Amino acid sequence: SHELKTPLAGLSLLAETLQSTIKDDPEQAAKFVDRLSTEVSRLGDLTNDLLTLSRMEEPQPAPGAESTPFDLSALVEQTADELQAQAEAKQHQLVVETMDQVVMQGDGVALRTLTRNLLENAIRYTEPGGLIELRLKTETSSDGRQWAVLSVSDNGVGIPLADQQRVFERFYRVDKARSRETGGTGLGLSIVRHAAERHGGSVQLKSTVGVGSVFTVRLPLS
Ligand SMILES: Nc1ncnc2c1ncn2[C@@H]1O[C@H](COP(=O)(O)OP(=O)(O)OP(=O)(O)O)[C@@H](O)[C@H]1O
Ligand SMILES: [Mg+2]
Repeated sequence: SHELKTPLAGLSLLAETLQSTIKDDPEQAAKFVDRLSTEVSRLGDLTNDLLTLSRMEEPQPAPGAESTPFDLSALVEQTADELQAQAEAKQHQLVVETMDQVVMQGDGVALRTLTRNLLENAIRYTEPGGLIELRLKTETSSDGRQWAVLSVSDNGVGIPLADQQRVFERFYRVDKARSRETGGTGLGLSIVRHAAERHGGSVQLKSTVGVGSVFTVRLPLS
């Protein structure tokens, strides 16, 4: 895709420039090496995201075939722990509220990625010193079905109404300039949606510019 070609073209241009600079201007060349390694790691992230997405798009294994029941609560708490340092680096407060045990069956790797992507966004798109809340509870719908309800809220920049559907599309970013600065590729939320839908669930967004965003994921428990 052209999203892969662009960084690749950038990389080969950097490499070429480096080759012609290295003798004449070693200091400048050192800067190119820095940029080269930044671009390489960005490309690595993109490749990982694309692999995750293509895995997510494969048909789900038959229920019970490969998946063993796991505690979604523990999975969510663990993922939040992993991102605590990232939140602290931006002086955010990360509040986690889960239930004792929410046992479900499914693709644990996908749900870990889902949780991580939502938290990473909340951390990334919130000004330093923000409040990020991760909640997990269960709900019974009117038809008697049990659901796990996972929500991630922030008091960050928010998403304009006109973009709220589109953020779930592949490579869609609201503010391209800002996203480039923060290193996003625009795949995170499409992975979130695929992961939710793969489990027969859904993801919903409520957001107000300048106030914050809430992403709510509903997953059937039975
Ligand atoms: N919590 C949020 N607050 C404000 N804007 C958000 C939030 N989450 C996502 N967005 C907007 O939606 C866009 C798409 O998000 P998505 O996670 O898919 O991509 P990304 O964060 O840009 O890159 P990636 O997740 O692939 O590294 C973001 O670029 C950002 O503009
Ligand atoms: Mg993201």
